[in-house]
Amino acid sequence: MNTATIVCPLVASVVSLSLAAAPTPDQRALDLLQRMTLEEKVGQLVQFSDGMATGPDRVKVDQAALLPKGGIGSLLNAVGAHKTNALQKIAVEQSRLGVPLLFGLDVIHGYRTTFPVPLGLSAAWDPSLIERTARVAAAEAAAGGIRWTFAPMVDIARDPRWGRIMEGSGEDPYLGSALAVAAVRGYQGGIGTANLAQPTSILACAKHFVAYGGAEGGRDYNTVDISERVLRDVYLPPFKAATDAGVVTFMSAFNALNGVPTSAYRHTLTGILRDEWKFDGFVVSDWTSITELIPHGIALDDRTAAFKGFASGVDMDMQANLYAAELPGLVRAGKVSEQAVDASVRRILRAKFELGLFENPYVNADAEAAAMLKPEYIALAREAAEQSFVLLKNDATSGGKPVLPLAANARIALIGPLADDAEEMLGGWSCQGKKEDVVTLRASLAERFGTAFTYAKGTAITGDSREGFAAALDAAKNADVVIMALGESRHMSGEAASRTRLDLPGNQLDLLKEVSKLGKPVVLVAFSGRPLTIPWEAANVPAILMAWYPGLQAGPALTRVLTGDAAPSGKLTATMPRAVGQVPLYYNHLKTGRPVPGPDDEKKDEGYKFLSRYVDEDGSPLYPFGHGLTYTTFTYAATKASTKELSVNALRNGAAIEVESTITNTGSRSGTEIAQLYIRQRGTSVARPVRELKGFEKFTLEPGQSRTVKFKLTAAELAFWNIDMQLAVEACELTVWVAPSSITGTPTKIMITE
Ligand code: NOJ
Repeated sequence: MNTATIVCPLVASVVSLSLAAAPTPDQRALDLLQRMTLEEKVGQLVQFSDGMATGPDRVKVDQAALLPKGGIGSLLNAVGAHKTNALQKIAVEQSRLGVPLLFGLDVIHGYRTTFPVPLGLSAAWDPSLIERTARVAAAEAAAGGIRWTFAPMVDIARDPRWGRIMEGSGEDPYLGSALAVAAVRGYQGGIGTANLAQPTSILACAKHFVAYGGAEGGRDYNTVDISERVLRDVYLPPFKAATDAGVVTFMSAFNALNGVPTSAYRHTLTGILRDEWKFDGFVVSDWTSITELIPHGIALDDRTAAFKGFASGVDMDMQANLYAAELPGLVRAGKVSEQAVDASVRRILRAKFELGLFENPYVNADAEAAAMLKPEYIALAREAAEQSFVLLKNDATSGGKPVLPLAANARIALIGPLADDAEEMLGGWSCQGKKEDVVTLRASLAERFGTAFTYAKGTAITGDSREGFAAALDAAKNADVVIMALGESRHMSGEAASRTRLDLPGNQLDLLKEVSKLGKPVVLVAFSGRPLTIPWEAANVPAILMAWYPGLQAGPALTRVLTGDAAPSGKLTATMPRAVGQVPLYYNHLKTGRPVPGPDDEKKDEGYKFLSRYVDEDGSPLYPFGHGLTYTTFTYAATKASTKELSVNALRNGAAIEVESTITNTGSRSGTEIAQLYIRQRGTSVARPVRELKGFEKFTLEPGQSRTVKFKLTAAELAFWNIDMQLAVEACELTVWVAPSSITGTPTKIMITE
């Protein structure tokens, strides 16, 4: 026996005694609640955008009058220490109970230090990177009084027409879940709520609940109609993962799901979120989505809209002003119970106590400036950008060497509207990011290559003027390599920025074609907030690097990667289609009864007509999910599994299948690879996807070096929503791949028996 076993119970009882003395955040919330009037309670359920007109008629709410009465629980878009402190002072000093305000903001990919847009960050396949960038964003935001971000957006997006694909982690629920957890940890300071009181922690918000990314035609805010199975298999997992990681808030969405607007959908907001998942944080509506229940057509008046939103499980009304206007009346009329209001208020107060807002309602304005743009934050921004780039192709030139990396003595021409546009580099949700903080690709390459460098804008992002073409062609003529910085404007993705065409806008492709005619090696650096359709470019440009919107270190990160000081290592997290008509196109689709034979099929494609395909376009992606190259090459040994057969029972009892492959760096440079584990299940009660990601590992290998990556498949990875809508493991033929992308790798089979 060791002494600890004797000492521990004593210590434990001392600890529990002292804990009993200090009330928990929840006990404090309850105590405060008991002293509140109905109006004060409802005030906690109300959020406005600082100073902005609101409500169905966009009437300016008198926020200045409401605040000292305790009529506002939270404000969004009030930014900076001076502003937040001044508003906080009114809430704390003038309202009867002094309940502090909770300040929220869209801190999406950085606060002042702007990181790559989330779709770009996701391409790094690196949870720790996501966590670190979120941590920095939280620290900067908190220094300005912001203790709540409306992030991460964990919506699965299978349609690049939808502009908000920029704001998420792409199309895969497994990767999306891992990155959701990482973001929650980063913002909240760890798993759960234990570190929320740190002054650098802020509440995270899993949004938009739910299936917002499934919008018809990729049109923002639009209708979503998907089966309960697809909802649970594909769209819910990242939300569930965020819940399990202790995310304190959720945001209900704008869209209707299967006929019910999601800001009034009891099935998802209460049935799934609270009853099944036991979420005990609070739900905020999206911006005016409570009043939007009227145009959706499920309410004819404000009172019904407020009732439906609240009764379904939305605790806080963002910007609609309907809870403030209608909830007290609904309670007095007996339509809404005061206990239900209490439950919502208690959740919000608890979060405020957990954040330590009652003890520390203000921030130190003198420390604010020094909290921004610290050298280590800028270094992280560069690292994040470098890791986000995806090298789609890198062909050899006539000399036999790949175009990239650039030779140190090469003469470089940089052409394109995104080469020197600092503001564009900030991406779609740049928050407090400033263009003055950005280093462009032009600035970095000029510094690196000196007199061997020339630049010409060539054309604008949109428009059809060819005025700049001549200067661009002149610059290109005198160069050994031409870098074309082309793409979308940052305003062409994000909220309310859906597109019907996914190509390079304006006449950028014309410019690229003209430059290509010169016969020089061309590198396309493509900036965008979504996968683009670039079939001509893929066929004719020897090297293509997806740069997304890299943030404030765009130039240094790109220069390091283009020159080989760093190597690209990102992999696509959303499929790149050949043509818009293929959309939605995603790797984890079902097979159909009429599949076109693929690389893994025994049958050859003999051109038989009656298959699931287009008559005018190949059905496959231009670049698949998981694809990305680097400056070295890797070979994967055949996938091996620890067993050929395992029973469902064994899996239920905790057995695991070990899957591995040995990966070797067969090139002549150091390189980072992201190995991906995929599964397929056949013989099941419902059809399963052709492949599903179930693991990944990122690692660096020196030339000639090998590494055996090992994954475990357990019941958790193999369970799916079966024919009886139960999450269960079934007997099946299981195929597994350890592969560098979603269409490569050698399969091996395991029988899962009854
Ligand atoms: C609407 C957006 O859909 C949501 O993501 C955002 O957090 C809110 N506006 C607040 O700005």
